[in-house]
Amino acid sequence: MSSPTARKNERSSAASTSSARPRLLLDWYDRHRRRLPWRAAPGEASDPYCVWLSEIMLQQTTVKAVGPYFEKFVARWPDVTALGRASQDDVLRMWAGLGYYSRARNLHACAVAVTRDHGGTFPDSEAGLRALPGIGPYTAAAIAAIAFDRNTMPVDGNIERVVSRLFAVEEELPQAKPMIQQLAATLLADSRAGDSAQALMDLGSSICTPKKPACSLCPLNDDCMARAAGTQETFPRKAPKKTGTLRRGAAFVVTRGDELLVRSRPEKGLLGGMTEVPGSDWLASQDDATAKQQAPELKGLSPWQRKMGVVTHVFTHFPLELVVYTAKAEARTRAPDGMRWVPTATLAGEALPNVMRKVIAHALDLPPGPSS
Ligand code: ADE
Repeated sequence: MSSPTARKNERSSAASTSSARPRLLLDWYDRHRRRLPWRAAPGEASDPYCVWLSEIMLQQTTVKAVGPYFEKFVARWPDVTALGRASQDDVLRMWAGLGYYSRARNLHACAVAVTRDHGGTFPDSEAGLRALPGIGPYTAAAIAAIAFDRNTMPVDGNIERVVSRLFAVEEELPQAKPMIQQLAATLLADSRAGDSAQALMDLGSSICTPKKPACSLCPLNDDCMARAAGTQETFPRKAPKKTGTLRRGAAFVVTRGDELLVRSRPEKGLLGGMTEVPGSDWLASQDDATAKQQAPELKGLSPWQRKMGVVTHVFTHFPLELVVYTAKAEARTRAPDGMRWVPTATLAGEALPNVMRKVIAHALDLPPGPSS
């Protein structure tokens, strides 16, 4: 292992050949860019409305999940003025399933503001964009670069990973963010800032993946300090997680034929707005009997069956252990207030956090899936 000073020296000597990197990236992007519904065709100008809409939708959601929502929104509201004239309720209804509903409320508020205060044209600077509802530093930089070719590099998790490997950034996240931001900016080409950013996003999602990166296909592989040391999978460095106190609870998986009973979590707080099966509080002092008392009440429900074993999940601040109960409801049983039935076949489109995917897999004896 080299010392931090040695790393710094290596980094600055690597930087002396750095002028080639932006060009290598863009050449790769021109050959391998993903076709995404909100992306302009090569050589065509981006539509700021599409860029903004996609960036808001992509916050905390995958490209795959966003695609159909993006298409639906653009078909119904083809420009920001049309969206600004829509009712918030209609926007929320169209958003249903994407999760984090505060994003949908901000999306609508932003469309109203752009229509009312900017004559239906998005501001073209990061500062102007940041002043709008729902647009933080990352999103402002992404829109400024992609829609307006402003010379700025948005840094998301994918880009953080690529950059931390390329330059073997030893400092841990989140302290390393300013350094990674600076290093990422060195990858901007003189023009085509938006394409430089999207090249890094695509590289991060298809090649420089968290596990088993496909380094042999990477346009920057000759120049990657982590790869040279064989340590690519160990970046980005992160402070070890603080474990927190174990919390316990119960989850109740009710099926009605091919449907499952779910509800949305409160907007604010952990997993805000996401979908879950009904459950008890999650408490350090939770005991099984108290948790079980919080089971939902439905008419004509079969007796609760307790599944063997527990589901465990580690959140940033605490580990969680859930016991899982299952029961069957008769056809046409009404969902209790605040809950709804969803076909199990459409669960993939629900904003289900990983812990809930594990609970459902455990309850229904499905394979656990890729999440940890
Ligand atoms: N993730 C966030 N923004 C993105 C974009 N514009 N292209 C691909 N992935 C993204």
